[in-house]
Amino acid sequence: MGVSIKTPDEIEKMRVAGRLAAEVLEMVDSHVVAGISTEQLNQICHDYMVNVQDTIPAPLNYRGFPKSICTSVNNQICHGIPNDKVLKKGDIINIDITVIKDGYHGDTSKTYFIGEPSIKARRVTEASQASMYEAIKIVKPGLALNQIGKTIEEYIAPFNFSIVQEYCGHGIGKQFHEAPQVLHYYEKRPAKPCILEAGMTFTIEPMINVGKRHTKLLPDHWTVVTKDRSLSAQFEHTILVTDTGFEILTLREEERALFP
Ligand code: MF3
Ligand code: CO
Ligand code: CO
Repeated sequence: MGVSIKTPDEIEKMRVAGRLAAEVLEMVDSHVVAGISTEQLNQICHDYMVNVQDTIPAPLNYRGFPKSICTSVNNQICHGIPNDKVLKKGDIINIDITVIKDGYHGDTSKTYFIGEPSIKARRVTEASQASMYEAIKIVKPGLALNQIGKTIEEYIAPFNFSIVQEYCGHGIGKQFHEAPQVLHYYEKRPAKPCILEAGMTFTIEPMINVGKRHTKLLPDHWTVVTKDRSLSAQFEHTILVTDTGFEILTLREEERALFP
């Protein structure tokens, strides 16, 4: 399948799904503290999605994923499965939320600090977030998709960090993962070149490691960790290409000042 162009009606549904996904992150914020387990965070988010929002948690049973959210702690890069592990001061945790509302998906994630982070943890987390913002800002019709990866790579280059290559952003809509693949590093000659058009919706979700870029899949078949056990941070937004540029469909209140 090629890259779908959403109709005005679909775009409105994507706006609703995106806002609801963002609201889950805002809701869970005050619960992300030392002493709570990732399973408790899963339960809080699940109940909110199902009982308050009337949304479907997209991860639950997606290709056999057993929980409603992904929680990736410290050296876990992505797709961490919530469990009884209790968060402690100094941890960082990415919470990745995907909701389905009215048949459409909204996908977003944020890395939280538990108490005061180490200097390294703060730097890698801030670099991941800022690289995502830099990439979002260049989005407009006519842009070659591989410029997103180029922008992230150029932003990360001055740091002694690395960019995960095995997992990428993705088109999103009726499907959780649609074309195109959105690489977070520069591919000069992409296998499937793509020029952005108004009405496309996709995620940008860079995973940045303190150490080397290489990944390892845990025996649970889901949790992706850094091979060298170094810290990893990620942020994700769902983006709409508009006639003049972009709209962040999963923008949180705390980010409003950055994108007025
Ligand atoms: N939300 C993830 C993404 O950003 C995908 C999670 S798949 C799951 O694409 F099955 F682990 F939930
Ligand atoms: Co995603
Ligand atoms: Co996600």
